[in-house]
Amino acid sequence: DGDIVVLGIETSCDDTAAAIVRSDGEILSQVISSQADLLVKYGGVAPKMAEEAHSQVIDQVVQDALDKAYMTEKDLTAVAVTIGPGLSLCLRVGVQKARRIAGGFNLPIIGVHHMEAHALVARLIEKDLQFPFMALLISGGHNLLILARDLGQYIQLGTTIDDAIGEAYDKSAKWLGLDIRRSGGPAIEELAREGNDKSVSFSVPMRQHKDCNFSYAGLKTQVRLAIESKKIDATIPISSASYEDRLSRADIAASFQRVAVLHLEERCERAIQWALKMEPSIRHLVVSGGVASNQYVRARLDTVVKKNGLQLVCPPPRLCTDNGVMVAWTGIEHFRVGRYDPPPPAEEPEDFL
Ligand code: KG4
Ligand code: ZN
Repeated sequence: DGDIVVLGIETSCDDTAAAIVRSDGEILSQVISSQADLLVKYGGVAPKMAEEAHSQVIDQVVQDALDKAYMTEKDLTAVAVTIGPGLSLCLRVGVQKARRIAGGFNLPIIGVHHMEAHALVARLIEKDLQFPFMALLISGGHNLLILARDLGQYIQLGTTIDDAIGEAYDKSAKWLGLDIRRSGGPAIEELAREGNDKSVSFSVPMRQHKDCNFSYAGLKTQVRLAIESKKIDATIPISSASYEDRLSRADIAASFQRVAVLHLEERCERAIQWALKMEPSIRHLVVSGGVASNQYVRARLDTVVKKNGLQLVCPPPRLCTDNGVMVAWTGIEHFRVGRYDPPPPAEEPEDFL
């Protein structure tokens, strides 16, 4: 079944992404333009700046996706676009673009939930992945544990009560003076390899709460306090730090990562036990979202999942972080079961949304 071809557009945060995917799972093209320089300049995502950056590149990103697939808009079956959650100013850039194409070429349009896309892209990678399955979605803004019973039927088993794990990685990286050009997560992962992960004793969040929710705000504060007490000067970039200074930053990074991930392990273990009571036929736990591209995270969760008799499904790193493929694929899943909107009018005022 390769007869459906969908263009997916993603602009919910700081990456402008587009991809073309076919219903047999073939990725025909994939393009991402990131706002790395802006991230460094503003130390995070500034919505107005991000919106402008999306607007500047969206046409080119979509055109590149079409060119790389040797296609024009006429070859598409439908257009899928992320409609939330995310920064509304940024989402609008993607939605306007999608509506212009869909309106201009008389194509159906599919509004996609960003987190559902992170979960469902695993079904493009792993053809055996049938419902019901579990998913742990870990990114900069979200920390979700869900039971996916069927397409569109998701039970939330746990969520964060404050910050998501990616936010804790990003802030820790910033406070440690790391190079955050590729976002904080990869910088911490790399530095943590040089450190002793038991050298700083951080406490594991929420142990007294016997549920599947998450909390990372407290751990973030613990990291900040450790940095202060070790008198680390983050205005000195890690690249110019002395050997001792570098090592003490690496110890914090490693200790932070161990506890941050232990929190995930503990919640997943409990969630698996809960979910299997509801749905004994579950075979898989999907781990997706930007933080799932971390090798340490993958290895630790693999152990937990196997110990509980399930299989881990983790998309390759470039499909874990925000991308257009997951949006296109989710569009295909919805299109197949008739969940799409008719083409918008060909001529829509620019400020329609
Ligand atoms: O899914 P994503 O690309 O965007 C959101 O939907 O938020 O996730 C971005 C998050 C950032 O917090 C980033 O630091 C984190 O994913 N991340 C990582 C790694 N790569 C990206 N965290 C830990 N280790 C990594 N290798
Ligand atoms: Zn995401």
